[in-house]
Amino acid sequence: MIDGKKVLFSGMQATGNLTLGNYLGALKNWITLSDEYECFYSVVDLHSITVRQDPQELRKRARALLTLYIAAGLDPKKNCIYYQSHVSAHAELSWILGCFTYMGELNRMTQFKDKAAKHADNINAGLFTYPVLMAADILLYQADVVPVGIDQMQHLELTRNIAERFNNIYGDVFTVPEAYVGKVGSKIMSLQDPTKKMSKSDENPNASIYLMDDPDTIMRKCKRAVTDSEGIICYRDEQPGIKNLIDIYSACTGKTPQDVVAEFEGKGYGELKPAVGEAVISVLKPLQDEFARLSKDKAYLDSIIKENAEKAGYYAQKTLRKVQRKVGFPDRIR
Ligand code: TRP
Repeated sequence: MIDGKKVLFSGMQATGNLTLGNYLGALKNWITLSDEYECFYSVVDLHSITVRQDPQELRKRARALLTLYIAAGLDPKKNCIYYQSHVSAHAELSWILGCFTYMGELNRMTQFKDKAAKHADNINAGLFTYPVLMAADILLYQADVVPVGIDQMQHLELTRNIAERFNNIYGDVFTVPEAYVGKVGSKIMSLQDPTKKMSKSDENPNASIYLMDDPDTIMRKCKRAVTDSEGIICYRDEQPGIKNLIDIYSACTGKTPQDVVAEFEGKGYGELKPAVGEAVISVLKPLQDEFARLSKDKAYLDSIIKENAEKAGYYAQKTLRKVQRKVGFPDRIR
């Protein structure tokens, strides 16, 4: 608890361009959480170097992601938005937690297996211990809740196991975190294969709408979205393409899927698609404008980065010191 509020932690990697799916499925929901929770949102750059990165590019993307958090509406005075690499306690706690994590546990992580297969030429130890660093992220802030996608559930479960194991040995040190499952987490699917999630790493650029796509591109991608030959606009699993377009329209306009179906009754896909395009543009355009404005305000962004790194560092140090004492490291001489 911080100031009577429960703590929420989440992080995103600055690799790949964020998609409409990331925005509607995650970022947009985060904004509504800041009144209820004390929120920490990290740009997890330590995690990013588990695969090779171009240094200039990583720095640029990390700053863009942090700017995007703010442009999307996360108030940096209320939400602690910071770079993981600015708080050295993440790496320090990660080392300690690594000594409380078993090889067998890490061997079972499906994301490690997937990534090792994808980067067969660079299966480094960091990739293997990635989930331990993620546990450190979460436990450093004594987070009560962690909004994560289904693909990160296994890592969160491991985090809980590490926390419980540590607590069993040393007493109540860590808060054992829960997954935060959003109320209406709209899951946005690929525009080219609506049975797959819209992904920032999709090879087909038409499959995903990127947050920085210009209006013409957005419209073109919506018009090219894969649908079906039913020809009627219904909200059902048998028509995944149409269902996805309805979900996107509904998330962008705040209407329910049922309202959307009623609105398009008797109309064809040729009318739905451009309407979806317009709805997406009306959501992304203001975000892009704000991103452009913020990006130019270097002094403001720098001040946010500095302040929030200090704030994150304060809470992180508190936990780290407690852990260091518990495991038997000597007190600092002051
Ligand atoms: N591994 C997460 C992902 O790739 C990112 C992440 C790192 C994270 N640390 C975290 C998410 C802590 C939630 C909490 O999506």
